[in-house]
Amino acid sequence: FNPVPEVVHPAAPEPYRPPEIPQPAPPALSPISMSRVFHGIMFDAGSTGTRIHIYKFIQKDPELPVLDNEMFHAVKPGLSSYKDNPEEGGNTIRQLLKIAKKTVPEEDWRRTPVVLRATAGLRLLPQEQASRLLKEVKEVFDESPFFVPNNSVSIMPGTNEVLAWVTVNFLTHLYSNTRRTVGILDLGGGSTQITFLPKSKKTIQSAPSSYIANFNLFNHTYQLYTHYLGNGLVAARLSAVGALGADVDWKVFTSPCLPKRVREELNFSGTTYKVSGIPDYAGYKLCYYEMMRVIKGIVHQPYELKGSSLFYAFSHYFDRANESGLISRGGTVEVRDFKKKAKECNKMSKYRTISPFLCMDLTYITCLLKEGFGFKDNTKLHLAKKVNNVETSWALGATFDYFRNLNIH
Ligand SMILES: *[C@@H]1O[C@H](CO)[C@@H](O)[C@H](O)[C@H]1NC(C)=O
Ligand SMILES: *[C@@H]1O[C@H](CO)[C@@H](O)[C@H](O)[C@H]1NC(C)=O
Ligand SMILES: *[C@@H]1O[C@H](CO)[C@@H](O)[C@H](O)[C@H]1NC(C)=O
Ligand SMILES: *[C@@H]1O[C@H](CO)[C@@H](O)[C@H](O)[C@H]1NC(C)=O
Repeated sequence: FNPVPEVVHPAAPEPYRPPEIPQPAPPALSPISMSRVFHGIMFDAGSTGTRIHIYKFIQKDPELPVLDNEMFHAVKPGLSSYKDNPEEGGNTIRQLLKIAKKTVPEEDWRRTPVVLRATAGLRLLPQEQASRLLKEVKEVFDESPFFVPNNSVSIMPGTNEVLAWVTVNFLTHLYSNTRRTVGILDLGGGSTQITFLPKSKKTIQSAPSSYIANFNLFNHTYQLYTHYLGNGLVAARLSAVGALGADVDWKVFTSPCLPKRVREELNFSGTTYKVSGIPDYAGYKLCYYEMMRVIKGIVHQPYELKGSSLFYAFSHYFDRANESGLISRGGTVEVRDFKKKAKECNKMSKYRTISPFLCMDLTYITCLLKEGFGFKDNTKLHLAKKVNNVETSWALGATFDYFRNLNIH
């Protein structure tokens, strides 16, 4: 098969055109080994943190590259927190590049591309502030010994987070010898997405055309359902308390999802919001209604979400399940397990000592899955931080996409 995906977005409003780049010449293949190693560095600048992925690929001629391993590191907070101090933001990138220098052998630095893609956090900043941050990052890249392609630093349009589907299916496919694909559910701080391969034509026909994307992967064209929306976990908390877009000066936002003693600050997209609980904290049911208001009318329900298809859920789906003890080291749960946990969480104070937002988050996740996407109680979700030791994020898919467009391989 051909593990290098081709990304086509026929109806995306702002199609991502990966850069066409003058390539650093690949080193001549040794006539003896016919194999070589190369690296790619991908920064994921999210709303809650910046993550570096350093991938090592092995090209065994005439086959296509295989992923040998990944080095991963994250820093908090995200770039958008440095909107008033871009130099400081640049320093977080500098810090992460030090890890890249330790990971990639020195003789490969010059031909190892370094790319940063920013997601929801920067997308929400005023353009001027976002541009200054990106410019700062570009300067840090330029002073590094790595290869800095044109357009190495940019904001990724939401639709391209579908590249996470590429990552997961590359990783599951590669090691399982099956053509079955899995759906994915991603839940970040600022945004969330669902992507899967529909079995029924009706799913495609009944969806808004911008939710359908054609992808070439493993020498097959897949017609995917993919829906991206801004309701990440932190965005949902703020939306539930009525803080998003509100004037924040001195204001404390309250929610029936939070017990009364809670006094917390939430940093989101460069703004700090104060939130607190209310005396008549009412538990799961009322909180669920609050969350319904966040979701109502925003989330499109695909025609088909049958129990038969398997979904991989990662990022905050995994984190909250793990923190609440629903899973220990990943594993498969059903949608109803989130509901059970959310109910239990709202009843027992021990969960609040883990995080004041844990019960609110579990309630939101339950509501998003059931009322939002329309999952059945018995849909199976495979919760994973990693597949075959690789982070399940869009970053690997984006790296493939990048190399494909370089046309090295
Ligand atoms: C890709 O698909 C085409 C058409 O189905 C086929 O002819 C070709 O052999 C395939 N290539 C690989 C590498 O599997
Ligand atoms: C990359 O940028 C350089 C300098 O601005 C320019 O000369 C070159 O044509 C660009 N390459 C592509 C493929 O856009
Ligand atoms: C939020 O950001 C402010 C300054 O930007 C910082 O002092 C504070 O510690 C942050 N709070 C959290 C909860 O991260
Ligand atoms: C799962 O949660 C435990 C306890 O909160 C934590 O120590 C551990 O690092 C978490 N695992 C992952 C993979 O995040």
